[in-house]
Amino acid sequence: MTPFAYREQGLCVEAVPLTRIAAQYGTPCYVYSRAALEFAFRNFDGAFSGLPHLICYAVKANSNLAILDLFARLGAGFDIVSGGELKRVVAAGGDPSKVVFSGVGKTEAEMRLALELGIHCFNVESEAELYRLNEVAGGLKRRAPVSLRVNPDVNPRTHPYISTGLKESKFGIEYARAFELYQVAQGLPHLVVRGIDCHIGSQILQVEPFVDALERVLELVDRLKAAGIRLEHLDLGGGLGIRYRDECPPDLAEYARRLAERLAGRGLKLLLEPGRALVGNAGLLLTRVEYLKPGQTRHFAIVDAAMNDLMRPALYDAWHDILPVVPHQGSARTWEIVGPVCESGDFLGHARSLALAQGDLLAIMSAGAYGMSMASNYNSRPRAAEVMVSGEQVFLIRERESVEALYALEHLLPTDALSAS
Ligand code: LLP
Repeated sequence: MTPFAYREQGLCVEAVPLTRIAAQYGTPCYVYSRAALEFAFRNFDGAFSGLPHLICYAVKANSNLAILDLFARLGAGFDIVSGGELKRVVAAGGDPSKVVFSGVGKTEAEMRLALELGIHCFNVESEAELYRLNEVAGGLKRRAPVSLRVNPDVNPRTHPYISTGLKESKFGIEYARAFELYQVAQGLPHLVVRGIDCHIGSQILQVEPFVDALERVLELVDRLKAAGIRLEHLDLGGGLGIRYRDECPPDLAEYARRLAERLAGRGLKLLLEPGRALVGNAGLLLTRVEYLKPGQTRHFAIVDAAMNDLMRPALYDAWHDILPVVPHQGSARTWEIVGPVCESGDFLGHARSLALAQGDLLAIMSAGAYGMSMASNYNSRPRAAEVMVSGEQVFLIRERESVEALYALEHLLPTDALSAS
């Protein structure tokens, strides 16, 4: 699947040149390929066709309604971490009964909303949350479906900021306490134990950590079964990595086969919560060079996208390929690709060898996951537009924000309060 390719008019997304998108929608602009999104979902889902399963797309990776709608139509469930994400799923036509709710800080209001909508399962992350959920469900005269998110204490061998399954982590329930807390959950009148859950981290590039986590979780499943607590599903979370530069993510078929092997004959439905693997390489961030500022030690290309649009380089020192939309013949130089935000950490790429001129368009690749969903308005920068390409068509799926919208919720002090001082 190659949704991004150079043709006569330069770099294209499916059949549409990025030059056309920049002319019509301006920059910075997130551009997604519908074919790539659908391919990624079908491929992931298809890899598990031999097992009872549900792919719950992790909404946090990219929560645009048009993307949620596409996945919902392909049969996806959703992994959410807030009432806001749940409302997005519903607004996009997603089925609440296929939603799992993760996160360490669920509020009563969020629990109520999820119970009223009838979600599939709460992934409970602490003992205190069990009691709160029991109470909220009781108040609504319902029983809340629960899994405990256990912390299998395996090392996913990824960036420490996105490792979540170690025992030092704030996420999940300590492995050693999980059995006892299942007994607590079983005894609470307004809860119904449905499954077990874990999520060990993100951008994981080997199958072993997933298999290790699965084995740890299955040991617990067996102990619970012996104690009369039978589970319907096992949720192994998300975390499968993608190629940003030269990484070699595990082959999907291999990942599926290794998990299936261990689940065979257990009658457990497998839930997975992929985010990045479904959207990461289906989108790019289109930006224009505002200024070139060659210097004695370093040369800066100042582009109109910044850390507020794509935080990953500044936050994790993450690499994103940066491609010229219309390549030049001229000689290449080594550029620091930076944005206009007033922070030294505002960069999108270091030391990139490119032949550049002012006004050039650049494509920051692999920006479909944790790009727009982590964008902010820092420096009062309106968030970028988002478009989706489908064959020869381009659809605006999020308008560029206006500056007025940024301060629309703010209020001056009333005049009498000001004159009183
Ligand atoms: N399930 C849970 C409970 C999660 O916390 C996450 C991601 C996922 C699923 C989806 O993980 P994925 O398949 O996308 O790896 N902002 C970081 C990534 C943070 C991931 C947080 N949790 C980044 O830009 O790399």
